[in-house]
Amino acid sequence: MKKIYIGSDHGGFELKETMKDYLAENYKNYKVVDCGPDSDESVDYPVFGKKVARSVVEDAGSLGIVICGSGIGISMAANKVKGARAALCNSKELARLARQHNGANILAMGERTMFIDDPEVIVSTFLNTDIDRAERHERRRSLLDEMC
Ligand code: RB5
Repeated sequence: MKKIYIGSDHGGFELKETMKDYLAENYKNYKVVDCGPDSDESVDYPVFGKKVARSVVEDAGSLGIVICGSGIGISMAANKVKGARAALCNSKELARLARQHNGANILAMGERTMFIDDPEVIVSTFLNTDIDRAERHERRRSLLDEMC
């Protein structure tokens, strides 16, 4: 069964819990793995960004969701892991493009920021959009991979 690794810091904890419920209810064909934290006590976002990213990279075909207050810190942390492509999205349009063009394997969101579309719609779009295999996109993604 395809897996979704999800993690946050305290700033993204509430949205992480909401997304877990949403996924459990609507995406029964995925196994959701919670990489923590277990409460909204203050924690360091790099720890959880790295945890999710490492899990996704080590588990071919899996996807990740990372959430912090802004979505910035935890996406930066995830992108430090070789093979991770985390994209911060506040709309379904960005989620679609992140998958199609950039081959993002991790969706980042900021709980304390403004959403153009509901987080549920963003997550759904991310999960339901395939990577565009056109040569120009493949070439650009390979150039990204060569950078680390
Ligand atoms: C935590 O207060 C906050 O800095 C964090 O959630 C995130 O926004 C960092 O990028």
